Amino acid sequence: MSGQRVCVSDFEEEARKVLPKAVYDYYRSGADEQSTLADNVAAFKRWYLVPRVLRDVSVVDLSVSMLGQRLSMPLCVAATAMQRMAHPEGETATARACRTVGTGMMLSSWATSTIEEVMSAMTTSSSAGGVLWLQLYIYKDRELTLSLVRRAEEVGYKAIFVTVDTPYLGRRWDDMRNSFQLPPHLSMSNFSTASLAFSEGNYGRDSGLAVYVAKAIDPTLCWDDITWLKKHTILPVIVKGILNGEDAVKAVNYGVSGILVSNHGARQLDGVPATLDVLDEVVKAVQGRCDVYMDGGVRRGTDILKALALGAKAIFIGRPVLWGLACQGEKGVTEVLELLKEELRLAMALSGCRSVSELSRYVEADKWGAPLL
Ligand SMILES: Cc1cc2nc3c(=O)[nH]c(=O)nc-3n(C[C@H](O)[C@H](O)[C@H](O)COP(=O)(O)O)c2cc1C
Repeated sequence: MSGQRVCVSDFEEEARKVLPKAVYDYYRSGADEQSTLADNVAAFKRWYLVPRVLRDVSVVDLSVSMLGQRLSMPLCVAATAMQRMAHPEGETATARACRTVGTGMMLSSWATSTIEEVMSAMTTSSSAGGVLWLQLYIYKDRELTLSLVRRAEEVGYKAIFVTVDTPYLGRRWDDMRNSFQLPPHLSMSNFSTASLAFSEGNYGRDSGLAVYVAKAIDPTLCWDDITWLKKHTILPVIVKGILNGEDAVKAVNYGVSGILVSNHGARQLDGVPATLDVLDEVVKAVQGRCDVYMDGGVRRGTDILKALALGAKAIFIGRPVLWGLACQGEKGVTEVLELLKEELRLAMALSGCRSVSELSRYVEADKWGAPLL
């Protein structure tokens, strides 16, 4: 390690040095010209925190309740595929870190560790406590899709986050230039055939993942499939990838338990708004009828605070976890989560805010100034 890591970008810088180029590119990239990728981060700078003073902030409570579970903070880990490219322990290391910190992890359908392995990593570690949710891609093969759900239910996952923004894979230029595919010793571990496990190794000159998605993922997905999924699971269903109020209202009407405002880390359709910029619209449209979460571009504690102040119940991060994993496995992910937690605690204290419930109340906010209290 080349000096103390004091912010998420220090982790990214170190990860960039240790990861093979094609892996770093896959993790970092957005779609097309990556304008939304930059905007996801920039959007946070368009909002200001307006602190209140003299409020006794000697104790700040970060804990929240989410989908029936108590978490130590309102920051959770979003699904990111193929984590063993970053570190040999991959998703199991991330799960142990989440357990240590006491937060939630959304496991990707495209994990390089099995649903069961990750659950046992989460439950056999001695410290604190975390929770696991499954991110679900709906495959053309619906039985196969449901088998993932059943496996998650059997071992104790607590919710299904169904991704609704990926009927096809976005055009990620670096992956196309690198002819991205998994290294030969890895596979998407939840699948038993080479073609479903993304380990065929002959995807031509395109992004291998784009070829895989076109073959396997169901592009006919529509709202009735939310009803279909709800019928086949006892777990709460959250839709991941909503970007406007109208779709949010539809999701509520289809009985979802939550909405994750997400543009897939800007990896799908370039030119869509930054997630922070549509959060307000979604929160207003939902009117408290289900939870609203957000992800995209969150890199510091003040970002988390701004998203909470705009009405998100919890916030997810994708890439920062991968940087921690690449730097130092479980320890690196723990450090990233603890760093953001401490940044959030300080941001809340300096804003005069003593608990998450105190600020999660939605406040009408000027685009150029977000009053917290
Ligand atoms: C490398 C990578 C892989 C991802 N894999 C998945 C996935 O398998 N399923 C999914 O629904 N979203 C996936 N996402 C999107 C994340 O769940 C999340 O929406 C996004 O990373 C949040 O933005 P951030 O990286 O700026 O924090 C992935 C994102 C990245 C960066």
